[in-house]
Amino acid sequence: MKISKLILLLFTALLAFSCSEDKEEEFVPPVNIQASFEYTISEADPFVIQLNNTTEGTVSFTSVWDFGLGNGLEDDMPGIEEVRYNETGEYVVKLYVIYDGLTTIDSKMVKVDENGICPDGFCGNADDSSLKAAATTFSVGTITRSGWVTAGGKHTDILKKEFNNLTSEYEMKMNVMYPSEGSYNFSAGDAIVDFAMANDMNVHGHALIWHNATPSWVQNFSGTNAEFETMVEDYITTTVTRYKGKVRSWDVVNEALEDGSGNPLRNSVFRQKMGDDYIRKCFQFARNADPDVLLFYNDYNMASSSGKRAAMFDLVDDLGDLIDGVGGQMHISYDGPSASQIQSLADGVVSRGLKLHFAELDIRANPNKDQTSLTSQRAEEQRAKYKEVVKIYNSIPLDNKFALTVWGVRDNESWLIDFWGAQDWPLLFDKNYNKKSAYFGFLEGLQ
Ligand code: XIL
Repeated sequence: MKISKLILLLFTALLAFSCSEDKEEEFVPPVNIQASFEYTISEADPFVIQLNNTTEGTVSFTSVWDFGLGNGLEDDMPGIEEVRYNETGEYVVKLYVIYDGLTTIDSKMVKVDENGICPDGFCGNADDSSLKAAATTFSVGTITRSGWVTAGGKHTDILKKEFNNLTSEYEMKMNVMYPSEGSYNFSAGDAIVDFAMANDMNVHGHALIWHNATPSWVQNFSGTNAEFETMVEDYITTTVTRYKGKVRSWDVVNEALEDGSGNPLRNSVFRQKMGDDYIRKCFQFARNADPDVLLFYNDYNMASSSGKRAAMFDLVDDLGDLIDGVGGQMHISYDGPSASQIQSLADGVVSRGLKLHFAELDIRANPNKDQTSLTSQRAEEQRAKYKEVVKIYNSIPLDNKFALTVWGVRDNESWLIDFWGAQDWPLLFDKNYNKKSAYFGFLEGLQ
């Protein structure tokens, strides 16, 4: 009995081995074909689009079009296809690519008004569009620098036309405002706040306490812990009082949580000298200085990491009435985090009755550092992500709405280029201040 069992086992093992060998020989790599196309508007006739099937594959496949005109499916012909849209309206063009019984689809919206196909899917005069005018229920923010607001020109033209919430990119951080003990420097912050006031914009103060913008004299503070705490109270009181009535909201503490396992509190100098409840103390100092200003906790990766999100909500729940809102930094990529992850962040903030700031929005088009230019396909994917983010924000209840802030105006000025050491095009305007597809994605998210 035992011997026959052993033989059976050996036989089974041999069979499994030979089968796996057979399998390896027969293995055919999966063919991964994804339908894709681009379209341009004909220069000869503004009611005609020229369609280019850009699907790539190493095997032959079949492509058919649905031009959205109610005429059913038509075979894809070699070269560029031209289609005329005689009536105003919106048409969904679909390309079906079929290989081995599997079908993939790419689709794009074509909008037509009395002048022809609308460039970038935006009908009307694109020059007349404005983000802040389109976003009727929340502020649309961006960042600036004191040198730029004093210089004027195209940068300030765009600020005035498109945005109604302004944040200083780095000049309202502690290392700039409080560079040495007992001596404040608010000149850059004042220039930005004055510009905002003069142009009817809200100011979002960013950020009172951030481990990455702590001046070295604070980092190496020589006094006692009690003296350190008094110094922090003086700094927060002086700063918040100075901008009382001018700054609508402050990020009181920025990025207090670690990324590592369990997302503990970052061991910053503030935590070391003031204890684990330093965040509460800082919120209390700010609240004492201005009972009306909105106080935010701001951090990153709160959509992509459910663990960090949970840790952030624990921290926020502990603050009780001291906190008004949560800033979720939206440094994201065209391919993630997913809509449902972003929605989870929004849901958590809404369920707590807090204000939500989609802060620091930029969407990397080149997260894998493999692109040397912004391809039209990637630009469209980025546009879709901008649309998705704005749509999620625009769908939260009115009471929880506050602002959506884009972290920069022109692609070439984005902090990400230095930070990741790679080319990218994460913003709404290109280096020549032209509106990108991403800009129109933002507008589409509001529709
Ligand atoms: C960045 C600025 O864009 C840079 O100019 C500056 O040198 C460093 O800070 N998270 C934040 C922002 O909260 O303050 C950071 O801004 C980007 C990451």
